[in-house]
Amino acid sequence: MASSGTIPTLDDLGDVAGKRVLVRTDFNVPLATHDDGPATITDDFRIRAALPTIEWLTERDAQVVCASHLGRPKGRPDERYSMDPVRERLAELAPGVELRENLRFDPREEANDPSFTTELIDGVDLYVNDAFGASHRAHASIVGPPAEIPSAMGRLLQREVEVLLGLRERPKRPFVAVLGGAKISDKLGVIEALLTNVDALVIGGAMCFTFFAAQGKPIGDSLFEPDQVDYCAKLLRSGGTIHLPDDITGLDADGQFATYGTRLPGGAKGFDIGPGSAAAFSDVIMDSRTVFWNGPMGMFEDERFEAGTRTVAEAMAATKAFTVVGGGDSAAAMAQFGLADDIDHVSTGGGASLELLELGDLPGLKALRSAPNASAANAAEDA
Ligand code: 3PG
Repeated sequence: MASSGTIPTLDDLGDVAGKRVLVRTDFNVPLATHDDGPATITDDFRIRAALPTIEWLTERDAQVVCASHLGRPKGRPDERYSMDPVRERLAELAPGVELRENLRFDPREEANDPSFTTELIDGVDLYVNDAFGASHRAHASIVGPPAEIPSAMGRLLQREVEVLLGLRERPKRPFVAVLGGAKISDKLGVIEALLTNVDALVIGGAMCFTFFAAQGKPIGDSLFEPDQVDYCAKLLRSGGTIHLPDDITGLDADGQFATYGTRLPGGAKGFDIGPGSAAAFSDVIMDSRTVFWNGPMGMFEDERFEAGTRTVAEAMAATKAFTVVGGGDSAAAMAQFGLADDIDHVSTGGGASLELLELGDLPGLKALRSAPNASAANAAEDA
């Protein structure tokens, strides 16, 4: 496995006092834009999550310079993705820590251009990757520095790897994965990997309509992915336990709120799992010993369609199982319902957590394993 033991940790960096340390963070935070002023951060979870690493370094008198991407600015400076709001928040949380401008303002970041790595590590002694959410990207700031200078994974990255590889390799059973969101095509690999590992897969969100279509059921005008219907039929035949919703809420052809079974009439659109399904999914979660949740059960931003996601979130908070929420919208839902503190591990990574569950490794971890100091860290571990 991609054992954390084979990847240098902060403790393998030696004396950091007086050293300049480049910390790759994932400060890709949600922003609200305003007509009358600069953008503001709507959730600083990813900044707070990097503090243990930053503080570990500053308490030992290292000089920390953070670097992150923000949004997808297409390789050129774009005011909308300026790091200024993040810099202000970071200055409140970790005074004295530098933050470079958005890495993706330079096309060489995503192209993994070695000349960009050279610039990033100019005047830098050590590199720390604490950007779990970006470690599935083979971008310059993720894979470049560990090939050149002594490197380590930060505390956040270390914890993410321990928890998510723990789910892959030694989950307490029953182990259940709850998947939602709109698209199956985003999750093809991980669904197959999970099906070979979990005791049950629970499917909500708009992706359930592609499964209904695979069962030959009418889905009205609900969102679905026609090119994934055969794939869903294959999954349903695979013999794994898959729980699908047995009721749906949505809007009828006149735009009125309506509750349906699993066959939706023409013109109807499903936007959430119904109360019966929410209760059934909640029971599955309560009876499990390990639960991984990624993707909302419905369009929870609209309060008419938040009930399914809220019920699942409440079950995640209440169950005695070890609970992991995989980034993105489901983490936002836990925060919206004020339940994030009741989850054992809320991952900072959306795509990264799915890729680590699927493949058991990430480009950012591979790079750290071949850092110049990695063999010394291995020798210390073996001794
Ligand atoms: C994320 O938000 O999942 C990470 O910051 C990665 O962002 P990206 O999908 O734009 O690479």
